[in-house]
Amino acid sequence: MRRVVGRRGRALVTGATGGIGEATARRLAGDGFKVFVGGRRFERLERLAGEIDGAALPFDVTSEAEVELARAEVETGGAPLLVLVNAAGVFDLAAVTQTSGEMLRRNLEANLVGTVNVTRAFLPGMLAARSGLVINVGSVAGWRAFPENSAYSASKYGLRGFHDVLLEEIRGTGVRACLLEPGAVDTPIWDPLDPDASPHLPSRGQMLRAADVARAAGFVAGLPADVAVPLLRIERA
Ligand SMILES: NC(=O)c1ccc[n+]([C@@H]2O[C@H](COP(=O)([O-])OP(=O)(O)OC[C@H]3O[C@@H](n4cnc5c(N)ncnc54)[C@H](OP(=O)(O)O)[C@@H]3O)[C@@H](O)[C@H]2O)c1
Repeated sequence: MRRVVGRRGRALVTGATGGIGEATARRLAGDGFKVFVGGRRFERLERLAGEIDGAALPFDVTSEAEVELARAEVETGGAPLLVLVNAAGVFDLAAVTQTSGEMLRRNLEANLVGTVNVTRAFLPGMLAARSGLVINVGSVAGWRAFPENSAYSASKYGLRGFHDVLLEEIRGTGVRACLLEPGAVDTPIWDPLDPDASPHLPSRGQMLRAADVARAAGFVAGLPADVAVPLLRIERA
């Protein structure tokens, strides 16, 4: 049977070389979107794009110049972006006394500034088309405090503030936004921390799977254009 690619429009998933982003890109492609996959590791992007009939879009979300180039490529031919999933992010753990300015900036830059950069680039096209959906991947650490999460939590609480302002600004425009806040998800983001070896961290077996989060994103993206889900929290039952 011939597969119809992109019959539902264009989607961009940042962080597509990682756990949640990759799973979401696969999900959206399976649901019929033409998916642009973003990240910095080009070979992974190329491979994924080939597997899902998508397009590799290597760019750093913290670079306004690279984001602008990515926007131009996605919007080539005037086609507006239907779904933007901001899944690029980093995660550092350290006690407040050990949180360096560099660590704080790294988390704020990737998780907050990067999301703002990408959203700001694509929002005008969505507003002009009076359609589109922005899915911002927040975290349980964006509304609950955990020890050693100061840099990460600051970025995710900040993201929630940004998202709430975005919701106010797009009200009545036809553009929708969803803040997806998962609990711990078993992805490579945990690799440096080796959670199964730490009694203070959830074990990988207790975490959500990336495919579960992707399924939630796919659910939101599949709703009728006049149905909004401004906030969706997902946790292990
Ligand atoms: N895993 C969890 O427990 C969990 C829970 C709640 C929320 N989240 C959030 O979910 C999102 C995805 O996390 P994940 O668990 O899937 O992590 P992951 O597997 O480590 O993937 C992170 C992704 O972000 C990309 N990225 C990081 N910095 C970037 C930058 N400056 N420019 C472009 N891309 C960048 C990475 O791509 P490159 O390295 O190729 O650039 C990678 O694709 C993050 O926002 C994270 O905070 C995760």
